[in-house]
Amino acid sequence: MPTVIVPPIKSQGIKTKLVPWINDLVLSAGVDFNARWIEPFFGTGVVGFNSPMHGTHIVGDSNPHIINFYQGIQRGEITPDTMRAYLSEASRKLSESEENGYAYFRFIRDRFNFEHSPYDFIFLSRAGFNGMMRFNRHGDWNIPFCKKPDRFAPAYITKICNQIHHIAHIIRQKEWEFNNVDFIQTIERAKPGDIIYCDPPYFGRYVDYYNGWTEQNEVELFEALSRTPAKFILSTWHHNDYRSNEMIQRYWGQFNITTKDHFYHNGGNIENRHSVVEALVFNFDLQEKQQIKSIRQLELFEEIA
Ligand SMILES: C[S@@+](CC[C@H](N)C(=O)[O-])C[C@H]1O[C@@H](n2cnc3c(N)ncnc32)[C@H](O)[C@@H]1O
Repeated sequence: MPTVIVPPIKSQGIKTKLVPWINDLVLSAGVDFNARWIEPFFGTGVVGFNSPMHGTHIVGDSNPHIINFYQGIQRGEITPDTMRAYLSEASRKLSESEENGYAYFRFIRDRFNFEHSPYDFIFLSRAGFNGMMRFNRHGDWNIPFCKKPDRFAPAYITKICNQIHHIAHIIRQKEWEFNNVDFIQTIERAKPGDIIYCDPPYFGRYVDYYNGWTEQNEVELFEALSRTPAKFILSTWHHNDYRSNEMIQRYWGQFNITTKDHFYHNGGNIENRHSVVEALVFNFDLQEKQQIKSIRQLELFEEIA
């Protein structure tokens, strides 16, 4: 199995460990390798950046900071070198800061809430408690400090810079469109032959990414995916030890579903940190699984591994 390329942003609900499972289904969808990849809830981007498709990747998220960050990499403005310079200075200031780093964390958080710098966004994403991302209703960063004044040790900075290097490589290799739009606008771009991957906030579980997620949103998503001419895969949760996802019975049960046990290591509350049965809902008949056969794709995985 090729290595999964991990992006520099952290967030609860990140699908890193589920990428091979999702890609197996993508490769069984019977779509051409030149198909366009449509991803309306991009998040950290770990699924899209590891997609086996070569066509244009049209991705969106309602969180402007995610989109702004990846657009900065795409324009060549955010590079491993610029990030290293930023994080090296931040590391020094954080470790020298009063209140065990908290004073500097607060300074960056307040500056980010005012100026929205993508560098400060990465700082907060990597220095926040438990790798979580949450904003309050004014759109301000709402996760406390991880309480580690030595968070940005040299090896950790190198790891983040390498992640930026890998993502920049993938963005150069394929055609990418990063859009700060509502999911409906992204799904409506899909045409026959495209493949859509959706990973919305999980109804009744995570409601704290950038904006909330209601049953009305779930219905709008269900209607948009029901009328799309493209093939789609939707991630959702099926059940956990406490309860089942009512949305499956009410809406998604009319499509095909496959499930897998999964453990989320980070989340806001204890239920979200327990194991859950994940579901992939899809609207196509399974075909024989294709092998990733693009030389370029394999070279990339080998270079990064
Ligand atoms: C579960 S996360 C996606 C996680 C991603 N697959 C990953 O592995 O990192 C859901 C994402 O949907 C975004 N989102 C929430 N409501 C949205 C909406 N109405 N339109 C577009 N994106 C939305 C959130 O900002 C968040 O990034």
